[in-house]
Amino acid sequence: MLIRHAKDCNGRPCDVWLRGGKIAAVGVDLPAPPQEEIFEAKGLTVLPAFIDPHCHWRTPGFEYKEDIATGSAAAAAGGYTFVNLMPNTKPVCSDAETARAVQRKAAEIGLCDANQCVSITQNFDGRTLDHLLTLPEDVRFISEDGHGVQDNAVMARAFAIATERGLTVMSHAEDMEVSPWDYRLAENLETLRNCHLAEYYGTRLHMCHVSTRESIDMVRQARRRGALVSCEVTPHHLWFDDKRLQYKVNPPIRTAEDVKALVAAIRDGTVSCIGTDHAPHTAEDKAKGAAGMVGLETAFAVCYTKLCRMEGLPLEMLSFLMSSGTAQVLDLDDRKGLLAPGYDADVVLADLDHMYTVEAAKLHSKSKNSPYDGEHLYGRIVATIKAGKFTYRSEQ
Ligand code: DOR
Ligand code: ZN
Repeated sequence: MLIRHAKDCNGRPCDVWLRGGKIAAVGVDLPAPPQEEIFEAKGLTVLPAFIDPHCHWRTPGFEYKEDIATGSAAAAAGGYTFVNLMPNTKPVCSDAETARAVQRKAAEIGLCDANQCVSITQNFDGRTLDHLLTLPEDVRFISEDGHGVQDNAVMARAFAIATERGLTVMSHAEDMEVSPWDYRLAENLETLRNCHLAEYYGTRLHMCHVSTRESIDMVRQARRRGALVSCEVTPHHLWFDDKRLQYKVNPPIRTAEDVKALVAAIRDGTVSCIGTDHAPHTAEDKAKGAAGMVGLETAFAVCYTKLCRMEGLPLEMLSFLMSSGTAQVLDLDDRKGLLAPGYDADVVLADLDHMYTVEAAKLHSKSKNSPYDGEHLYGRIVATIKAGKFTYRSEQ
């Protein structure tokens, strides 16, 4: 496929030629090879497809909220071709076989590839780490998302094992004894502990959904000291503040001061990537207090509108945070995240110039729990291409 007359992230003319599932050439006015499919992309911006470090597709056990097919469709509609899935399923994903089954199913559907994380403690019991000792080499990321590991000694041992076995710890930072009365302190305490453990044991640590100004500064300081710490921020923690939105999500929507601190951390390179924390729930479960929101299909437009349009951040930086930065965290950067010859032919085309209105009812996700319903955004996804083939095209 030859994508013609698009713009790159700096607004310059850009053609991209995709062949055999890889990017064959990137340039201006590339010659059309005979019999090649042409995509006329005038007015659109071409970027490497997005990669999400933090996503919930709810398989196994909660398929009534989302399944791999609907999660894949939502990802494709959001410009994603790869997601990293959290293990808070039913049962909890604590073994390689379960993880591989999810990954295989996603590959079979073919809209978006997935890595499935394995839990830090077995079945989220908070104590048992034995399963980590026998994990095969293809399992590289462990997470206790939704909870966090509470016990210091257990987490210390988990970090020591992770270092020895080359695992990356993905941390949902929440002290659950503290969070019912002070979720800010709950996030800060666990961030401090986990950054320290990463330094102490030389472990690769990825801090998920960092949301407070104190926590983001702890990550900044740990990185300055050379710790192997990366972090993500979510679109919702950038877009909303607690004066604008009351919506149950963990960590909670923070203050305008926190939002400013996250934007500053994006500018100074503390933030490695954007993570959606796409968390589908039915209306009934939301009414019962389930935390989280869907996010795959609005992530780019929310971040583009907030960071580039409102804060003046270069699109190149946002593109890094949604593709190459995540590829680095997930060790995919030898084949994904860049528009360059030899990289996977995973590409997204976005319309940056026209405002559109989010309609939650029209989302591809099985759940429609989006607080962006009715929001006016720039940066609608027009097409997603994975391995050289369309996985999504918007209705024009
Ligand atoms: O709001 C959230 N929802 N935060 C989490 O950590 C988990 C997620 C979910 O799985 O629903
Ligand atoms: Zn979480």
